[in-house]
Amino acid sequence: LKSLSFFDDFTTSDMEHTSQYMSEKRYDQNSFIFMEGDIGDELYIVLSGTVEINRFDNGKKFVLSTLQEGDVFGEMSLFDGSECRSANAEVVDKAVLAAIERRNLQGLLETNPGVTYKLLTILIKRLRRANDRIHDITFLDVRTRIYKQLLCLAEEYGITLNQTIMINLRLTQQQIADMVGCTREMVSKVLTELQADHIIVVNKKRIIVKNKHLLSDKVTSF
Ligand code: CMP
Repeated sequence: LKSLSFFDDFTTSDMEHTSQYMSEKRYDQNSFIFMEGDIGDELYIVLSGTVEINRFDNGKKFVLSTLQEGDVFGEMSLFDGSECRSANAEVVDKAVLAAIERRNLQGLLETNPGVTYKLLTILIKRLRRANDRIHDITFLDVRTRIYKQLLCLAEEYGITLNQTIMINLRLTQQQIADMVGCTREMVSKVLTELQADHIIVVNKKRIIVKNKHLLSDKVTSF
């Protein structure tokens, strides 16, 4: 646990105290940890694997966020009094989570102000992202939204090797479409164009950004 950024400022005794309140849970690929509307009684920290926060409307999926090691989710229904999960949590890659029950979270927040501060930081970051997304959906065309999504993924999950950035996530075209809110066909078309311009390479569902500057220029020149 100590290696996760969530626990950066924790002392050993903080860690011992906190881990008493946690239980480990394992989930298989494609299973749901919870569904939108369920009553929420636990907060989760991703120890390994990938979890997608999504919502469905008439069978169409919209991905709110893709979470990996160290990310926290499930706090909203514990705090806002509605008690209902605001979205689904779906396991994309076999996941191990640390769960903290509602009744233990309160005690943890009271005895450890560092946890409150961490949660606040996470929520503010999420609000910034949501605001950016509202902006993009309102003002940008679909192509530019796809370019921006690729830049965000490169920023968040990128591994840099000799000036190229490999997005360290196995992504289908449908997954990118669900993040941007467009069709899979549109994603396919844009990825093909970007490959023809030598800006990206797609290899076994992994995207390698070969020229980040050209990709950024496409966003700023919109
Ligand atoms: P909760 O409502 O309990 O269950 C769904 C969880 O998804 C929610 O808590 C948040 O932790 C997370 N979540 C909801 N909206 C977003 C978002 N826009 N970005 C990232 N995570 C979110």
